[in-house]
Amino acid sequence: MDPRIIITEGAQDLATKGAGLFLQKALQCNDRQGHFVAAFSGGSTPRAMNRLLVQEPFLSGIPWKNIHLFWVDERMVPYDDPDSNYGAARTDFIDAAPISPDKLHPIPVGTRPEKGAELYEEELRLFFRRFKSDYPSFDLLLLGIGEDGHTASLFPDHPALGETRRWVVQVKGGVPDVHRITLTYPVINRAATIIFLASGRQKASVLKTIMEDPNPQLPAQRIRPESAEVIWLVDRDAAALLSEEIITSPSGQEI
Ligand code: 6PG
Repeated sequence: MDPRIIITEGAQDLATKGAGLFLQKALQCNDRQGHFVAAFSGGSTPRAMNRLLVQEPFLSGIPWKNIHLFWVDERMVPYDDPDSNYGAARTDFIDAAPISPDKLHPIPVGTRPEKGAELYEEELRLFFRRFKSDYPSFDLLLLGIGEDGHTASLFPDHPALGETRRWVVQVKGGVPDVHRITLTYPVINRAATIIFLASGRQKASVLKTIMEDPNPQLPAQRIRPESAEVIWLVDRDAAALLSEEIITSPSGQEI
């Protein structure tokens, strides 16, 4: 399935469109299967979208009681540290959302990184076994991209890119350069829907490479799910260098 490209005018439009897609996917999954399992990335791009999730019409539209929230990756810092992905999510929407703690599955920190990865992988195993699935299959993954082409905490040239067995690994790198825990390609590529968010002119060059370079070298280019719906939700600044044929392709959609 070809990726779909949605280009919004600005960052706030991207946030609104992203919140709308989240709501749409949550309602579709809840109607179909009675639950919705999503995993969030960190970084700054998704924060405006996340804040909208607890504002109308999203706050009353999202079926919070049937939602389970996981994280794609996490920095090994305390949840109240400004660099914590879960801490940012709590500030931006979780603390204001009518979601019960048993439906929140933050990546464990405060332990050895390897142990944290093992614990999270076990949590995934136990959680998805409830749905008779022996493999984690997220209904929605929200991913970002770094200017170096990383996604999640899968950084260029890192051994984690070659992981084919483990679902969760620990790495060190990124900005901040700290120990992190991240989902691996085997799990990411099994999601039903993946939404990449990219905003700002500083992402234009890497987005052009990801979308137009046929030789997938960058970590974000190796997100190649067998049958998932992949949506690139980008603003006009991030899309500034994309070729006209990409923008006007059947999968390209100006907002
Ligand atoms: C992390 C994120 C990371 C992020 C990108 C983009 O924990 O650092 O998961 O993969 O999505 O680095 O970050 P920005 O949105 O801040 O550009």
